[in-house]
Amino acid sequence: MNDRVYIFDTTLRDGEQVPGCQLNTAEKIEVAKALEALGVDVLEAGFPISSPGDFNSVVEISKAISVPIICGLTRALEKDIDAAAAALKYAKRKRIHTGIGSSDLHIYTKLKSTRDKILEQGVRAVKYAKKHVEDVQFYAEDAGRANLEYLCNMIESVIDAGATVVNIPDTTGYNLPWVFGEKIKYLVEQVPNIHKARIAVHCHNDLGLATSNTIAGLVNGARQAEVTMNGVGERAGNTSLEETVMILYSHKHLGLTTNINTEQICPTSDLVSKMMRMPVQANKAIVGKNAFAHSSGIHQDGFLKNRENYEVIDPVIVGSMPSSIVLTARSGKHALLHRLEKLGYTFEKEELIKIYDKFLVLADSQKEVNDKDLINLINEIEPELKK
Ligand code: KIV
Ligand code: ZN
Repeated sequence: MNDRVYIFDTTLRDGEQVPGCQLNTAEKIEVAKALEALGVDVLEAGFPISSPGDFNSVVEISKAISVPIICGLTRALEKDIDAAAAALKYAKRKRIHTGIGSSDLHIYTKLKSTRDKILEQGVRAVKYAKKHVEDVQFYAEDAGRANLEYLCNMIESVIDAGATVVNIPDTTGYNLPWVFGEKIKYLVEQVPNIHKARIAVHCHNDLGLATSNTIAGLVNGARQAEVTMNGVGERAGNTSLEETVMILYSHKHLGLTTNINTEQICPTSDLVSKMMRMPVQANKAIVGKNAFAHSSGIHQDGFLKNRENYEVIDPVIVGSMPSSIVLTARSGKHALLHRLEKLGYTFEKEELIKIYDKFLVLADSQKEVNDKDLINLINEIEPELKK
């Protein structure tokens, strides 16, 4: 039987915290509508107390969006929770996301407090948020580096206080996948009331492990993945939505499914990149310009014989441009012939050999040979071919 994984998108909150990526309210609404069409379950629209602009964006997104739950972030403070509740007034389905640091580092050096006081503050915040909304999510910030016994106590206490979702963030992206997976398993096995809440995982990418850690968390019992489009987010970013969704899609044996309309992935990625003025690296999995481009002779030959030789996902499924064969000095005759045929040319074997030699000289002198270059090349050498 398949289990549903809920996709919690925080592009407009954690993603938007990136310097230079700030969006105005109109832009946020456009992105929020695209995320709704993509099929995210929860849309974290902002941190309402942080600025009047963010407050207003949460208000307007709440009005504009119908299907996903709209979520507002708070610290474990009454004034933050009041602001979030006010901003979420018009949301058809709403959630307050409150929480506090859980690692000793955060407790003693950031919050300058003690474990007991912080646990109490977290519980108080959940109870206070419950006065405003039914759906309250609690985050144990820096849970990835927290003492596990303390984390268990904290999670048990906030569930008793009414938390519907408990978020276990690897705030600093420190964990190794199997260690993070074990932590989630431990919570599932040791927290007596864990069945009363959904476990969420929220991973950062400081060591390039955000997606792996998220998958490890899901495999071990978490059922909400906190992600951003293109992996945008603080420092090295957050877990990327497209990677998480397509890993679950590609590995059906895990028995985990999402509600994402996968064909909307690339269009949404383009929109977010454009709006946030944040280019996607060419070799980014799923949404990068080269994710479905083949340039070496061996790969091109194998791909042309059977796409699956060199692709684990059909680009159509993620709404990407069709796969491409890029002609470079590493391309083989098979790929060149394929492109020439697409351009309407047919050549004898001997002719193709001559063209290929000229092609290699041209390709060595420039990075890529496009259709126009090829047509020019054929026109130039046509008299020679007839000899
Ligand atoms: O990374 C983090 O811990 C967060 C929390 C506020 C959920 O973004
Ligand atoms: Zn975060």
